[in-house]
Amino acid sequence: MKENKISSFKKLIDEKINEYFSQKISSATYNKLLYESMFYSMKNGGKRIRPILFLLVLDMYRLEFSEYIDFALALEMIHCYSLIHDDLPCMDDDDIRRGKPTNHKVYGEAIALLAGDALLNEAFEILFKLSLKDDLCTKASYEIAKAVGGFGMIGGQTADILGENKVLSEEELIYIHENKTGKLIKASIASAGILCDIDESELEILSMIGEKLGLAFQIKDDILDVIGDEEKLGKSINSDEKNQKFTFVTLYGLERSKEIYDDLSNACLTLLDKFLHSRNKDLFRSFINELINRSY
Ligand code: IPE
Ligand code: IPE
Ligand code: MG
Ligand code: MG
Ligand code: MG
Repeated sequence: MKENKISSFKKLIDEKINEYFSQKISSATYNKLLYESMFYSMKNGGKRIRPILFLLVLDMYRLEFSEYIDFALALEMIHCYSLIHDDLPCMDDDDIRRGKPTNHKVYGEAIALLAGDALLNEAFEILFKLSLKDDLCTKASYEIAKAVGGFGMIGGQTADILGENKVLSEEELIYIHENKTGKLIKASIASAGILCDIDESELEILSMIGEKLGLAFQIKDDILDVIGDEEKLGKSINSDEKNQKFTFVTLYGLERSKEIYDDLSNACLTLLDKFLHSRNKDLFRSFINELINRSY
């Protein structure tokens, strides 16, 4: 059963997180609170889509994924760090994340800031360690580093903050979405392709799928911020309106945004079905469909 395999990936990631942080907390001393705060934001509640996409691509090209579960963990660490910082009072000032009080509401702003910093560092420590014995892993890690820096996620978050209370062009809005959210999603997919040593043209198609999926993911996030169910989402809706963010819904309205979303989703599926050469695409396709139809 496909869905069972996807949930087994999620379970694997959840277990890895619990094991990793339980061990760190038990050996921590004066830094124990830091690790408790990191663990608080890592455990439970997340959809884990980045590590799942990563593991699905490994599975699609039939690479033994158990070796790379730490790589998947690093992806989720980078994502969780970005959420902790995104929720801070100086950023989106949100109180609820994954159905629980945000990190700074529990641990205070200073520890929340440090927990984010430490998760990012911890992720690269893991990636460097894997890269020591695996050249393809060095290449895959470089893909992640590029995706989350100043010309990636942080660049997008910067433009997002600078864009508050402003009317933006479509070009700037797409820049924000592709960078703040799209690039890590794209890199989660592409890095797995790199580890599988697939040829350049196949990697190109895989990256294009990741790019469209990543942009679509943030457009859906904007839509759900307006029409989503807070209980299901585990975060407050109307956060964008509160912060005067210029989103796809602001630019195009709900209906047109949904059409753009559908077009992007279809383009993604067409690339997958017509141009990707792997013979083992069913599970990857089924998860992409799950993402396309998500309501949280
Ligand atoms: C939320 O990401 C922030 C964005 C980048 C849009 P997710 O929707 O993947 O959040 P979790 O990990 O499931 O909580
Ligand atoms: C978050 O975008 C992007 C990153 C965390 C990098 P949003 O600010 O729209 O995400 P939510 O809605 O708070 O989850
Ligand atoms: Mg934000
Ligand atoms: Mg936010
Ligand atoms: Mg949002």
